[in-house]
Amino acid sequence: MTPIIRAATARINPVCRTESLRRTIGLHVFDAGEYHAGVADGDRSGVPGVAGSATGRKHRADMSESERLGDGAGPPWKPPRRPRYRGTHPRDFREKYKERNIEAHPEMAMHLRAKGKTPAGSHVPVMIEQVVAHLHPAPGEIVVDCTLGYGGHALEFARRIGPGGRLIGLDVDRIELERTRERLSGIGVPASFHRSNFAGVDAVLAKEGLDGCDVLFADLGVSSMQIDDPDRGMSYKHEGPLDLRMDDRLQRTGADLVRTLGEGELAETLRDLADEPDAEKIARAIVVRRAAEPLTRTSHLVELVLAVKGLTTASWHKQRASHPALLHPAARTFQAFRILVNDELGCLKRLLGLAPYCLRPGGRIGIITFHSGEDRLVKRSFREGVRTGLYYAAAEEVIVPQRAEVASNPRSASAKFRWAATEPTR
Ligand SMILES: C[S@@+](CC[C@H](N)C(=O)[O-])C[C@H]1O[C@@H](n2cnc3c(N)ncnc32)[C@H](O)[C@@H]1O
Repeated sequence: MTPIIRAATARINPVCRTESLRRTIGLHVFDAGEYHAGVADGDRSGVPGVAGSATGRKHRADMSESERLGDGAGPPWKPPRRPRYRGTHPRDFREKYKERNIEAHPEMAMHLRAKGKTPAGSHVPVMIEQVVAHLHPAPGEIVVDCTLGYGGHALEFARRIGPGGRLIGLDVDRIELERTRERLSGIGVPASFHRSNFAGVDAVLAKEGLDGCDVLFADLGVSSMQIDDPDRGMSYKHEGPLDLRMDDRLQRTGADLVRTLGEGELAETLRDLADEPDAEKIARAIVVRRAAEPLTRTSHLVELVLAVKGLTTASWHKQRASHPALLHPAARTFQAFRILVNDELGCLKRLLGLAPYCLRPGGRIGIITFHSGEDRLVKRSFREGVRTGLYYAAAEEVIVPQRAEVASNPRSASAKFRWAATEPTR
């Protein structure tokens, strides 16, 4: 079956969708059905029940009248001062207060999107037209979004399944799950949110009292919010701790891996998970450097990789100026360690193994991947599923974003989408 690639039609602004879909039906969040790659059983104490703000600060709407207005016993409530920045524009993530509250500043969203940029603290859903065209969520259906993120795809699913349907959202990221739960409150569709790894999607369905779903969707990798936040240590672009965890219950950070892996393991990680051509040299440099001082910051790793490739920050910027499409020399290194820290391939394999059994007759699964290792796993699993009869049909060709989408959202450039479907009657 040859997949249909639909021309990208006008993109739907997720901000507008949020507004148009605002009608509340009980939303709840709980910690259920987790499969935590590498999480010790005893390490759940810090896992939030998830009510309240991710920062622990009270939202204004949650305050009592006297707290908000002051009741004479204390000073009246004042909004916190925004951080001051030097110059005419905020440069640092923490200073970008408008971008980080983008729903209150739609003019800023339009301005940045027109320049092909994603506002800090938000995420533009990738290939949404193709996803919907192939998974065709219908009124009354049950959709499981395994990677809720900013909720862009979830909102589109909700719009299509309507109040008679049911949306179940999973994410391992405590901070973003909580923010998205708030953002999606009032979408007008019965919805529940689970802080859970999608490798435990079967347990989530069981907790929901369901024997399966109609649509299972995963948009792999990290969100723009995670990349942009320097404290997550996900990106070579921002100075911060070398953390790299999407799930803060995981025990090992990126810095832990860089400190403890043997030289051979480091080289293998860089080679196998990111096709890094200088894998051996980078591994050697890490071993030499860590004997002198620990590599705990993103900048430590960036400087080390640049040095291995005979570059300095200045010479790299010069190269980049004449070849803007060049990949950052440390991009592959960060990708490799992020995949390992979060056991991304292990979790994907488990999801692929469970998926056919989590779909109802006529159910559809769709997965967006961002690198060849992931895409290979998905392709093989869907093809094998068709061969063995677990699936009835699957995409024969990989589906990629339209040129216009890549121009307006460069982060979509490496996205690949595949789908499979179970037999309508089993
Ligand atoms: C690319 S973003 C999804 C963006 C989302 N589709 C949207 O439109 O906003 C991927 C999200 O999946 C989450 N994630 C990654 N691996 C996961 C896993 N194994 N289980 C559950 N969530 C995961 C990340 O924390 C991140 O929030």
